[in-house]
Order: sequence, then C-alpha cells, then structure tokens
Amino acid sequence: MRVLLTGGAGYIGSHTALVLTERGHEVLVVDNFSNSSPESVRRVEQLTNASIELIEADLADPEQAKRALEPLEFDAVVHFAGLKAVGESTEQPARYYRTNIDSTLNLLDIMRAKGVTKLVFSSSATVYGDPQYLPQDELHQTGVGVTNPYGWTKAMIEQIIRDVQVAWPELNAVILRYFNPVGAHPSGRIGEDPAGIPNNLMPFIAQVAVGKREKLMVFGDAYETSDGTGVRDYIHVMDLAEGHVAALEQAPSGVSTYNLGSGKGSSVLEVLRAFEKAVGRELPYEITAARAGDVAEMVADPAKANRELGWAVKRTLDEACADAWAWQSANPDGYGA
Ligand code: UD1
Repeated sequence: MRVLLTGGAGYIGSHTALVLTERGHEVLVVDNFSNSSPESVRRVEQLTNASIELIEADLADPEQAKRALEPLEFDAVVHFAGLKAVGESTEQPARYYRTNIDSTLNLLDIMRAKGVTKLVFSSSATVYGDPQYLPQDELHQTGVGVTNPYGWTKAMIEQIIRDVQVAWPELNAVILRYFNPVGAHPSGRIGEDPAGIPNNLMPFIAQVAVGKREKLMVFGDAYETSDGTGVRDYIHVMDLAEGHVAALEQAPSGVSTYNLGSGKGSSVLEVLRAFEKAVGRELPYEITAARAGDVAEMVADPAKANRELGWAVKRTLDEACADAWAWQSANPDGYGA
C-alpha cells in the first residue's frame, strides 16, 4: 500500500513510518512541523534504506490541505496530525478545536474527493473519561467526564468519523485508542522529542536522568492504588506502531475501534524504578500534589485488538525504558533546532 501519514514526523508517526516501510509499504508524510522535525523522517530513511516523500503543509487550512494532498497518490491514510498537550489545550481551547477538528474534516473531504476509503485515526484512552470499570474495553462509555479540550477533540473526531461513514459507507475507518506510549526505536536514532518541559511521565524522567531537570515531581501518592501513585498502561511505541500496521492490514470494513494497550498497569514509582534500572543509578524525586484532571488508574483491555487484528504487545516496560534511555542519552537535545 501507499500510505499517507499526517503528522508522520512526530513521535508515534515516525515509528509507524519505520515499521510500515519495513513491512514493504510505501510511506508519504505530510506535516507542518509545528511540534516535530523533518530530521525524524530523514533518520527513518537511514534506518530503513528507503525513501519517504515528505510534504510540508498545515491540514487545518483547507487551501493548503488541498494543494498538498490533491496531487498525491495514496491508498490509505493514518491521521496522527494534531495538537496533544493537555494543559495547553485548557489555555487555548479554540486553537485545539480548530487545529484538530478542521484538519480531520479537510482530510475527510479530500479523501472522499480522491476516492481514498481507508483511514486509521489516532484516538486516545482519554475519551473514556473517569473509568467506570477496569480494565477498560471499547464498550466503556466515552465522552463523559473528559476533563480537557484536547480529550474532547478526540471524542468529537471519533463521532465525526462515525457520522461521515454513515453518509459515505465506502469509508473504512479504524479508530485506535492509545493508552500511554513510551520508549523508542531500539537503535536510539528516533524517539520522543517534546518541546519545552515534558508533560508526560517518561520523557520527564528521561530528562532528569540526562541532567536537564533536577528531579521528578510525582503527582500524588494518595490514590487507591498499590503504592498510592497513579497507575497507567504503558505501551512501547514500537508495539503501538505495529498496531497501526495490523489495523491497516486486518481491520474489517466499516468503522471499527480498538484499544492499543498492554493490559498491564504500572504505577509512577514502578516506572521510575524501571527507568533507574535502565540508567543504572537512582534518580531524584519528590512527592507533590496530585495534578488536576488525573485519574487513579487506567488500564486497557486489549482483547479485541488481540483477537480481530492478530496484534499483541511484545515488549516490556523495562525494554521501553532501556530504549527511551538509549534515545535520550544519545540525543540529549532531541532532533535539535
Ligand atoms: C496524558 C493525558 C492524556 C493524553 C496522554 C498523551 C492528562 C490528564 N492526560 O495521559 O489525555 O492522551 O497524556 O500521552 O494529562 N506523572 C507524574 N509526574 C510527571 C508526569 C506525570 O507523577 O511529571 C504521573 C501522572 O500523574 C500519571 C502518570 O504519571 O499518573 C502518567 O502521566 P502522563 O504521562 O502525563 O500520562 P496521562 O496523564 O496518563
């Protein structure tokens, strides 16, 4: 297949570009580099010995989107592009809604005009809001108790895709709900490169380990979990990337939705210990107040993806930490300026 990756220069997009290329698919990337670097795509080309067509465009702008995508030929789209910082989304809600939703609507219009009927969308376990039960399967309620505009854009885009498919039944869309992506390609050549202070746990720990941050702030230790700290389902980004390939190759027609997670929960302190093992020394931390909007525990039930996509995680949290550390220590400033 010729697969267009929107946001393909980003963290999950670049790892998926690599895995798709290794599987023999042809990859095209469109990105506006607002939170990514073309260097990631160059490194994927080096790692795979393949060439990837890279187009710079902002898909939220309908004219730019048309100009960029109309001349291209592709059979499927994986739509990663979007803004994803939870805190920022509460400060700039209109920007988040405009960027994430307009880009999706423009993309769907262009796909329909071109007759491209295969779409994979990057959703998030955040659509489940406050967990009503654990582990969470795909039948768990969504769009209730979502605490921030970023999360709402994911819930709304899921609904948009379902509505568009009713009016355009040829559309085959796969909605993938990611749990917590971590780690990097084992080469240490590509990885997560957050702008500014990392919001997420593992990139923050990695920056403590490399000496860029003084210590980890553990957000709360009074949750009803094994050690009182928040529990999440961490998934190695290479396993996540393989989930996209499985979705493109195995998903049934119509709209289908899958959790991509390991099914195993880890606490903040367990992640810290695993990272310390990878680095080979203890890392400083301090318990601080819980972060607004955080829940105690999120764990995926990945059985549907296991069964229908023939996909399951293969890598452990320890491997994710070792790979994240290989990336962070070799690239302390990420992809650079
Ligand atoms: C967050 C978002 C989620 C988004 C995902 C993208 C919130 C409420 N949720 O998930 O919508 O899809 O990122 O990757 O922001 N922690 C610390 N110290 C830190 C950072 C995090 O203790 O410096 C803790 C958190 O309290 C949480 C766990 O580590 O228990 C994981 O946090 P994080 O990596 O930010 O992911 P989520 O909050 O699960």
